[in-house]
Amino acid sequence: MTTENERTKLDEAVRTCTRCPLAETRTNAVPGDGPVPTRILFIGEAPGRNEDTKGIPFVGRAGSILDGLLEGIGVARDEVFITNIVKCRPPKNRDPTNEEIEACRPYLERQLVLLCPEVIVPLGRFAMRWVLESYGITPGPISEVHGTVFRIHNTGCEQVIIPVYHPAATIYRPAFREVLAADFETIREVLEQSLIP
Ligand code: URA
Repeated sequence: MTTENERTKLDEAVRTCTRCPLAETRTNAVPGDGPVPTRILFIGEAPGRNEDTKGIPFVGRAGSILDGLLEGIGVARDEVFITNIVKCRPPKNRDPTNEEIEACRPYLERQLVLLCPEVIVPLGRFAMRWVLESYGITPGPISEVHGTVFRIHNTGCEQVIIPVYHPAATIYRPAFREVLAADFETIREVLEQSLIP
């Protein structure tokens, strides 16, 4: 099966998923958006109201903030793949439960294989924990870990993980804007250092 075919099948599996009760309350499951394979993969927490309506990740307020951060480092949104650890909106945007995160795990695991990203950017503490623990790293709190460059050598290809605060965090704590912008500078530097153009 070609990568493109497998992506189409995986997206369809997400859109029709009934592995957890979020299937009963969602409008649309949100598989993710972007090129396959991809150089950079951003992983958020779960769709919000706008994403649930449109079936596309990060199209609401957090999405505008993410777009601005990408623009700040000269990366176009259509160059990156964006997804979430949980593909369906939790009611009233509550935090995803462990059961929901585990039910959705196979989709993101398969996406990581298909997308083969050089740089993985978990957005916020839930995605940070999911990604680092999946690579055998026990993370500290995001206040200590954000902006750290984790180099992974054991996956068959060289990969870099750079956890950052969730863009929505800046809505309630404007001081985080500068922190996020600085961490995106780190992402830009890592991309520039990379041997792959
Ligand atoms: N917040 C997320 O974590 N993901 C989205 O898709 C939108 C908002």
